[in-house]
Amino acid sequence: MTQMPIRIIPDPVLRQKAQAVASVDKRVAKFMDDMLESMYRGNGIGLAANQVGALERVITVDISEERNGTKALLMANPEIIWRDPEATFTYREGCLSIPQQFADVTRPQRIRMTYLDQSGKKQELEAEDLLSQCIQHEIDHLDGVLFIDHLSKLKRDIIERKVEKAQRDDQDHIL
Ligand code: NI
Repeated sequence: MTQMPIRIIPDPVLRQKAQAVASVDKRVAKFMDDMLESMYRGNGIGLAANQVGALERVITVDISEERNGTKALLMANPEIIWRDPEATFTYREGCLSIPQQFADVTRPQRIRMTYLDQSGKKQELEAEDLLSQCIQHEIDHLDGVLFIDHLSKLKRDIIERKVEKAQRDDQDHIL
């Protein structure tokens, strides 16, 4: 498996919309494995293709304790077909593309979704709480949306400035 570098804001690819894959062929299946590897290396529980610079509708998610691939979800063309209209769930979200920044985000508590698995088979999944939260965060990425977009403009501006400053400071030390 190949580890791919993670794109950080304000990289424009994070603001672009990813396109559906025509099918889960060998290349896409391998890409899913590479994404999973990159997600584990970054200690993330979810990753979207935009974050490694690819505008394809592919996400990986693993909220298990094991984090060894056995319980990972590798999903192409994920689509939410139902959102809980009443109950919400709030979680302190972070993102590999927005390093070291966290904020409470409230989303529908339960969703039902369809996707293509790594063998190209169509699957349906109902998710709640953290899994639901994580999947919604990743599908947002595919539409060019970041968790900071769910915050007030003031909070978003503060986070964006902090990340850009941290990136500049890091570069100052690379000789
Ligand atoms: Ni993210």
